[in-house]
Amino acid sequence: WPPLIGALAFGYLLGSIPFGLILTKVAGLGDVRSIGSGNIGATNVLRTGRKGLAAATLLGDALKGTAAVLIAGLWGEGPALAAGLGAFLGHLFPVWLGFKGGKGVATFIGILIALSPPTLLAFAAIWLGLAFALKYSSLAALAASAATPLVLWALGHGHVAALFLVLAALLWWKHAPNIRRLAAGTEGRIGQKG
Ligand code: G3P
Repeated sequence: WPPLIGALAFGYLLGSIPFGLILTKVAGLGDVRSIGSGNIGATNVLRTGRKGLAAATLLGDALKGTAAVLIAGLWGEGPALAAGLGAFLGHLFPVWLGFKGGKGVATFIGILIALSPPTLLAFAAIWLGLAFALKYSSLAALAASAATPLVLWALGHGHVAALFLVLAALLWWKHAPNIRRLAAGTEGRIGQKG
């Protein structure tokens, strides 16, 4: 147990770095939480009109998940999965921001790259297909994340599939406001400024 708890804590610390908030502050754009959906993720950073900053947010929020898994993975599969869970929880509930963090899509992707690159291809295909067709970042992420545990399970990655079932459930829970807006037809589309 101590290595698992250590990996969970290590992942949490890395995952709790809010790249979107830091990058938009450094760029002099103020607090990203005061625009659009109020989220600290790449989709909302894009609503500032700064595509480069949005891409950097996506990369930073993803790579912290990748790094947590790969580093803890040096100690085996258990610590790798615990660090992935920790990184996701850190991103969603960062102690530095009063536990009000992001919605998890980029970090979900980063953890997935480290654990099953082929499954990331399936995620990307679903996300890109829906995002281009319907222009809803949230809907694309909801569908792609729901498919992820199924794809992992079909590929025979039982433990990783179990982890991603938990991550997808958390991601859906954090997207509750988006789901309500999608149902009401008021969800913002990709590229629409906030
Ligand atoms: O990654 C979050 C995305 O799915 C929705 O973001 O800002 O539209 O709530 P946002």
